[in-house]
Amino acid sequence: MQRGIEFLGCDYAIMGGAMSWVSERNLVSAISNAGGFGVIACGAMTPDLLDTEIAETKKRTSRPFGVNLITMHPQLSELIDTCVKHDVGHIVLAGGLPPGWAIDKIKESGAKLMAFAPALALAKKLMRSKVDVLVIEGMEAGGHIGPVSTSVLAQEILPHVASDMPVFIAGGIGRGEAIAAYLEMGAVGVQLGTRFVCAEESIAHANFKKAFIRASARDAVLSIQIDPRLPVIPVRALKNAEVERFAAKQREVADLLDKGSIEMAEAQLQIEHYWAGALRRAVIDGDIESGSVMAGQSVGMVKKEEPVADIIAELVDEAAAALESRG
Ligand SMILES: Cc1cc2nc3c(=O)[nH]c(=O)nc-3n(C[C@H](O)[C@H](O)[C@H](O)COP(=O)(O)O)c2cc1C
Repeated sequence: MQRGIEFLGCDYAIMGGAMSWVSERNLVSAISNAGGFGVIACGAMTPDLLDTEIAETKKRTSRPFGVNLITMHPQLSELIDTCVKHDVGHIVLAGGLPPGWAIDKIKESGAKLMAFAPALALAKKLMRSKVDVLVIEGMEAGGHIGPVSTSVLAQEILPHVASDMPVFIAGGIGRGEAIAAYLEMGAVGVQLGTRFVCAEESIAHANFKKAFIRASARDAVLSIQIDPRLPVIPVRALKNAEVERFAAKQREVADLLDKGSIEMAEAQLQIEHYWAGALRRAVIDGDIESGSVMAGQSVGMVKKEEPVADIIAELVDEAAAALESRG
């Protein structure tokens, strides 16, 4: 973990993966204050909203934290400016391969840059760019995901990349033993989302937290693409009536594509706006039936609401015990 700790500037190389609506000032500062590394989820925020969120987070912690930006956000450049204005030390670019201009802009600002590598070829490509650190996220994770599992991506990518570039592993990590295993394979740290949702400091609605505590791994299912002409990134969430709404939304957007009223990029943006709204309904309003309860398969290991510090301490103790038991 040492390389990960040095890169992040915290006590444990455990990142709180950015979760739209959930990873805001309270949870992010709590994770950083507990020795982990909190990351603000910018999601669909405007630059002004992000500006406030960073300022409020800074009021709650003096420890380092990062900001996660989605590459397809139409105001990506202004969002980077906002991070630079606040001297944010670490920026995570999510939602597709980061464009060259964004990589240059972030690196010129002096911030450290993290990006997701969904396959070995892309990991190698990112190694040749100015990206500092890679995150490998498998399909066990909650939210938007790729098609391959964490364990396969780790085996495919780590042996070829880990000696040259620090790599964090995300997706399906619920206990410290798994953290130990990925560290042994060459990762420098991990990123967890699902395990932090029910933290006491998380502002997620009580209904959202209850749904997590009740759920088992098999309840966290993938969204279904209903029209082959409209490729949508799969989303993992607890199964509920929202599935129907998403089908209707896809039909509506596919129809607009057919009529030529929108281009593919706009179609995909509309789908992303749909998700932002559906997740907000569940996280903030507590509508866990028609909202999207995004959750990873590790949801079965979320048993109660507890302080972030306890979650991190438990993960660290389990990882340490696992490593000690191997001598
Ligand atoms: C409710 C929820 C919302 C998420 N939103 C985002 C997001 O806005 N941006 C992002 O890069 N990842 C997002 N993720 C993924 C997390 O950052 C993290 O990588 C993932 O949760 C790790 O896998 P795990 O859930 O198995 O721990 C989200 C995950 C969840 C559960």
